[in-house]
Amino acid sequence: NTYVLIMAGGVGSRFWPKSRNSFPKQFIDILGIGKSLLQLTYERFLKLCPAEQIYVVTNSQYKEIIAEQLPELGEGNIICEPSRNNTAPCIAYASFKLAQLDPDANVVVAPSDHFILYEDVFIQKLQEALRFSQTHEALLTLGISPTRPDTGYGYINYSKDGLEGVHKVIRFTEKPDKENALRFLASGDYLWNAGIFIWKASTVLNALQINCPEVYALFEKGVGVYNTPEEEAFIQIFYPQSPNVSIDYAIMEKADNIYTLPAEIGWSDLGTWASLYEVAEKNADNNVLAGKQVNLQETQDCIIHVPENKLAVIRGLQNFIVVDDGSVLLIYPKEKEQEIKKVSQDVNLTF
Ligand code: GDD
Ligand code: MG
Repeated sequence: NTYVLIMAGGVGSRFWPKSRNSFPKQFIDILGIGKSLLQLTYERFLKLCPAEQIYVVTNSQYKEIIAEQLPELGEGNIICEPSRNNTAPCIAYASFKLAQLDPDANVVVAPSDHFILYEDVFIQKLQEALRFSQTHEALLTLGISPTRPDTGYGYINYSKDGLEGVHKVIRFTEKPDKENALRFLASGDYLWNAGIFIWKASTVLNALQINCPEVYALFEKGVGVYNTPEEEAFIQIFYPQSPNVSIDYAIMEKADNIYTLPAEIGWSDLGTWASLYEVAEKNADNNVLAGKQVNLQETQDCIIHVPENKLAVIRGLQNFIVVDDGSVLLIYPKEKEQEIKKVSQDVNLTF
């Protein structure tokens, strides 16, 4: 059976001030289309499998937000973590649960904060990937053709010959430095890791046992209590003891059964304002607008996000990010946007 695990526990600080610790990016209608990224992600997966097989894993802090945004999601389909320890323990915990519900669970693990333009191609690629992961002991990830030497992604060096469209990964490098990112991009032998993984629950648990035994051993103690009333008490005590490590460092860089399926799906991880600008709809002057009452003159190539009840009048602005979220007003040159993360920390706002 196919299951989907949507990871919705991250913070997204480069999208400040829209994205906050208390209300991160995945819960925001960042595209200005009336739905949050989480809602878009959930709806996308309804094209792949029935609602009962879709789970959202998150920090307990966000449980209410999720229940509110996805009222059709059963309470048992929200998996809560009592502390922030990154994606390896998140995936370990959820995979133990799923493996015990269904020993043949074949799982898509996905972020909650990405944009995908070609949804039908995406679903088709996932179906291909799931067929492969069902019959092979494989850790599969969707691969994206890189377009810039971004140091925020995993880079996949893959073998050119493939089986059923799936390629063996020679080496996975998480978040390389700039020099290596430039080299990887120039070589043409690399893909970006989309952060969307396909594997059987049993396969990823085996990989954790071999490559990240501390995390595996911790959650193995819960065998017998998962999916019972004792689970919550167990998790409250043991989850916070896990090392803080992402799945990319914990297994993707280490395991020898990594595969990739190249997927041209119009993917963007919406990591920054500029990546939103790239994919969002623009007006005739190449401005991306969210807000009902925006009056622009001689203004081009800007991103403008203001509340619906606010009138914004802007004249003579080029290449700026303008975000008014009520308590914070940000006016920032687009080309300096990488510094927003630092600014958000410096102003020491109570997140
Ligand atoms: N439940 C839960 N718990 N979810 C989490 C946690 C956690 O502790 N930490 C992060 N997440 C969620 C985030 O909300 C996001 O949806 C997803 O897991 C990935 O985490 P990020 O923090 O956004 O990872 P990243 O962007 O730095 O890197 C990953 O994604 C890139 C593609 O966007 C890696 O997989 C890279 O290799 C990949 O290229
Ligand atoms: Mg991310």
